[in-house]
Parts: sequence; structure tokens; C-alpha cells
Amino acid sequence: MQQQIQSMMERALSEVAQATDPDALEETRIEYLGRKGKLTSLLRGLGSMDAAERPAAGQALNRAKEAVKVAVDERVTSLLSAQDDAPLTIDLTLPGRASRPGSLHVLPQIIEEICEIFHGMGYSRAVGPEVELDEFNFAKLNFPDDHPSRDLQDTFYVNDAVVMRTQTSPVQLRYMQEHEPPLAIVSPGRVYRHEQIDASHAAEFYQIEGLFVDHDVSLADLKSTIHAFIHALFGEDKKLRFRPHFFPFTEPSVEVDLWWESDRKSGWLEIMGAGMVHPHVFANAGYDPDRYTGFAFGMGIDRIAMVRHGIPDIRLLYENDLRFLRQF
Ligand code: DAH
Repeated sequence: MQQQIQSMMERALSEVAQATDPDALEETRIEYLGRKGKLTSLLRGLGSMDAAERPAAGQALNRAKEAVKVAVDERVTSLLSAQDDAPLTIDLTLPGRASRPGSLHVLPQIIEEICEIFHGMGYSRAVGPEVELDEFNFAKLNFPDDHPSRDLQDTFYVNDAVVMRTQTSPVQLRYMQEHEPPLAIVSPGRVYRHEQIDASHAAEFYQIEGLFVDHDVSLADLKSTIHAFIHALFGEDKKLRFRPHFFPFTEPSVEVDLWWESDRKSGWLEIMGAGMVHPHVFANAGYDPDRYTGFAFGMGIDRIAMVRHGIPDIRLLYENDLRFLRQF
């Protein structure tokens, strides 16, 4: 028995010494010391031994197991430290994986640019709700209840009194109710209309509203402001045309056209509505119409983006196809 233990231990120690990686070593450990391992099963054989030989054999077996266990532990340590010293298998000189920085969508880019231009002329930025009271979107802007101009701006009704705003113009009223003149604001944001969707119509789009109120403001102030703005945005050489028009909340009202030349076509392009703030609107905001005068304007931001970048279809602005967006 002693001999058997001795030779089994020697075999175990030599296998441990030869193990070249931690996995192989673990297999060797299990082979000898595991629950069904070779040394472990010798231990079970002790029971059938002569009682006189048993203590000596038992001690020899325990020593053998201890020796193998110590050898395994030492070998694990040396294999692991050899692994740490192994040459690096990653190449630190390879270029990194580039992360693509995000960027602003083309619409907010234009919004920022427009607000920046007006900021330079002393305008600050105001915001208003997209879910708006009919009262602000229509009634207080001087649209009578059954007036046909409401049809042009049919929208989504939340209930009889609440609509998805069809225009940024209600911000004029909200701002005037909270502030005293003189004031100069621009207010960009989303608007909604019940539209048949096609290349130039969407049911959601962006507008930017402008409002200037003080004493003795004239149509000439409106025209010079719009000229200065368009020249800053599109270049000093751009030509504008002011056409008489009708809006319920301005009197007189105009539409502004921009002369645009591109490879495909050239002509007058309608870019905004504008006018002198109607006295009823001042009265509805709590201002004395005899004391104050002002002008307002509103334009479609999508249209400006499309003209600026030659975008042929408004739907491209809302599909969020990265191949499209990455161009800006
Ligand atoms: N809110 C008008 C629209 O959506 C645009 C507009 C016209 C705004 C004249 C104005 C304005 O402030 O004075 O069609």
C-alpha cells in the first residue's frame, strides 16, 4: 500500500509539473484529488486494510494528498504569472474605432441661424404651447368664429376649445399679455394642420413668428427689418417683393416673395406673411391700440430649409433617414 501511494503521488507530481495551462492543471487536480480522484479512492480502500497497517497508510496518504495539493497551488501561481508576462496580443498602434459625433438636424440648425440673426437686431426668443386654446389660435387673433379663413387652417381638435396650433401667431398674444412694450421677439416652433400630405405639404411643420411693438412703428420698419433679415440669411444680392394680402390679425397685410434662381427653375417664391398688428389684437392683449403700433411676421422654416439646400420633398425632413441627414 505504501508503495502504491508513493508511486501514485510521484505520477501526480510529474503531471502537475508538466501541465502547461491552468485548465489542464485543473483536470490533473480533479484526476487525483477530486471526489472520485485516484488518491481519494485509495483513502476509501483503507477500511479493508489490516488494522495494524491502517494508521501508517492513512498518514502516508494524507501526506501524499497534501504534497499534490501544494504542488498544484504553486503551479497555478506560476502559470498565471507567466500568462501576465506573456507578450500583449493586442496591437496598441491600431487606429481606434471612430465614434461618429451626432449633429443638429437641419431644421433646428436653420432655427438657430434665424434666431441668431434676429438676436443681432435686438430680438429675444419666446415660446408658446403647441396644444393651444382655440381662443388664442383663432378668436383673439381676430378670426371670427365662422370666418372662412379658418378653413385654410383646419387642424386637429383636442376638443371644441383646444386645438393643435395651426400657426405660431398665438405666441404674440401670450407674450403681450405678460409683457409691456417696447418688445421685440421671435418664436420658433411646431405647428399642425389637417393637410393632404405631398412633396410640399406636411401635417406637422415649423414656423417662426416675429413681433415688434413700440410707439410709431411703420410699414417701412417692417420692410427694412425683413430686408435686413433676408440679406443676412441668403446674401446681400437677394431681391424681395411685398404683395398686398389678407390676414385677420394684421392690417395692412403683405406676403413677401423672394426671387430665387436655381438650376431647375427661377421665379418669385412666397416665403412669409407679415403686416401691421391689427388694433383688435392689441385690444385683445390688453394694450391700448391708440398708443401702440407694431408689426408681425411669420414664415415656414421647412420652406427656408428646402430653398437653402435644394431639398425637393418636405417629407425628407421628417423621415430621419441618416443618409439624408448626414449631408447637413
Ligand atoms: N400665421 C400666418 C400663417 O400661418 C403667417 C403670418 C402672417 C404670421 C402674417 C404673421 C403675420 O405674424 O403678420 O399663415
